[in-house]
Amino acid sequence: MHLGRTTLSKFLIQELDGSAQARDLAALVVDIASAVKAISAMTAKGALAGVLGSMEKQNVQGEDQKKLDVLANTAFVNTFQRGGLVAGLASEEEDEPITVTEKTAGRFLALFDPLDGSSNIDVNVSVGSIFSIIQAPDGRAPELQDYLRPGREQLAAGYAVYGPSTMLVLTVGKGTHGFTLDREVGNFILTHPNIQIPADTSEFAINTSNERFWEPPVQRYVTECKAGKTDVRGRDFNMRWIASMVAEVHRILMRGGIFMYPRDTKDPAKPGRLRLMYEANPMGMVVEQAGGLATTGRQRILEVMPDQIHQRIAVILGSRNEVERVERYHQEFDSGTDQKYSSPLFKERSLFQ
Ligand code: F6P
Repeated sequence: MHLGRTTLSKFLIQELDGSAQARDLAALVVDIASAVKAISAMTAKGALAGVLGSMEKQNVQGEDQKKLDVLANTAFVNTFQRGGLVAGLASEEEDEPITVTEKTAGRFLALFDPLDGSSNIDVNVSVGSIFSIIQAPDGRAPELQDYLRPGREQLAAGYAVYGPSTMLVLTVGKGTHGFTLDREVGNFILTHPNIQIPADTSEFAINTSNERFWEPPVQRYVTECKAGKTDVRGRDFNMRWIASMVAEVHRILMRGGIFMYPRDTKDPAKPGRLRLMYEANPMGMVVEQAGGLATTGRQRILEVMPDQIHQRIAVILGSRNEVERVERYHQEFDSGTDQKYSSPLFKERSLFQ
């Protein structure tokens, strides 16, 4: 081991001030890292540990629950309950938030998606965990309203990606930093300090099978990217879709890009696919702290005032200049200044009018 290496704990001691609040936040991040190590070990064993496959039931989202969804959720819930640092937690896999102790020993609330992109687990493609930490109310047990805070109030946020290597990517509001798990010694080592997302990109990520359900501004953007050199963009674009938000965001942090799961009309009951509280908000903070942007197309994600724990939302994030362009296309469409896509003919055909 190199003596100069910065472990996660060393980083947190250096990064946070000496207040009791900062010390507890650092300890909570270390707890999260230990849950991540447990989940990393489970995902790495895969079929050998008998953890693949479905639970044959659905979660509150109406999605097929995988065995690893449940195991990862248990790892996080146990860590938070035993750690004494959170007063309550909300998980994608739990219908309602869980109050950890009526006496509210912890200063924080944790919101998390224990295993994002879990449809990839059975085919051995990268999955991840996402977490968001906010302040708990002072001196009383948390209520639902205490969780429903806009993303700009997050104290810390991040994700773990279980890929060829396991990485923890974290922000405590002072940049975004990446740590790689050294499996032999069980430490997270700072390998990617101060990640910066390039402002420009020629790579977009979107599930194009939903194209006919998109709003005109998103159709316009993707049509132009696909036309590449032959149209207004003047350069060719590449496309990627892993169907694992964590892996997608990680790629964007490493080399730039734009990720979109926009509002669509596929299922009128769902205004977007991704969840605000434990997907869009933490990823929004991670991306903004790395110099990128995160929007619904019409509003900064971190400004959205939530009204439900499992609320869904449109997400467009990544390289600043491309995200700004998509926002502009929404403005032009809404104000009718976009000649082609706002034309009465297009609007008549659009299900959004
Ligand atoms: O949590 C939802 C999620 O699995 C994301 O990780 C991913 O980006 C998206 O859904 C994939 O959706 P689809 O299956 O529609 O491509």
